[in-house]
Amino acid sequence: MRNEMNLQFSALSQNESFARVTVASFIAQLDPTMDELTEIKTVVSEAVTNAIIHGYENDPNGIVYISVTLEDEVIHMTIRDEGIGIFDIEEARQPLYTTKPELERSGMGFTIMENFMDEITVDSTATSGTTVKLTKHLSKSKALCN
Ligand SMILES: Nc1ncnc2c1ncn2[C@@H]1O[C@H](COP(=O)(O)OP(=O)(O)O)[C@@H](O)[C@H]1O
Ligand SMILES: [Mg+2]
Repeated sequence: MRNEMNLQFSALSQNESFARVTVASFIAQLDPTMDELTEIKTVVSEAVTNAIIHGYENDPNGIVYISVTLEDEVIHMTIRDEGIGIFDIEEARQPLYTTKPELERSGMGFTIMENFMDEITVDSTATSGTTVKLTKHLSKSKALCN
């Protein structure tokens, strides 16, 4: 069965936990393990934080867009901003690369996303902003027990 939700909210840091919890509660219907849920929440935090602090440079007029589609045990998430874009995507995805070295977990956001998800694609232009697409397959053995 296919099930989809869309969310959009102001680029304010206090909305990071709102986004994380909302996505997690939507995904809960697939009965993920605690580890899977923690990984998904961490990935949402990283991508939303990037949209707010890098894409919109903390301009609260910016809007962050999240779309989540569930297809059986596969989760597709799109996290998008219409901010400044990424100049060199390949460079930005390197571990420890950051344009804001003062931040916590500096330069590890994309690496964390890659490690916790099965697929990640990043599209970005200076005119239209950044779209991060993430796919995760939940463990099948557990789904068979349901
Ligand atoms: N949504 C975005 N818009 C613009 N630039 C981004 C975005 N996401 C990431 N970046 C760029 O990619 C770099 C690496 O991101 P990341 O791995 O999350 O590390 P960090 O956020 O700690 O800098 C950022 O420093 C920033 O330059
Ligand atoms: Mg980051």
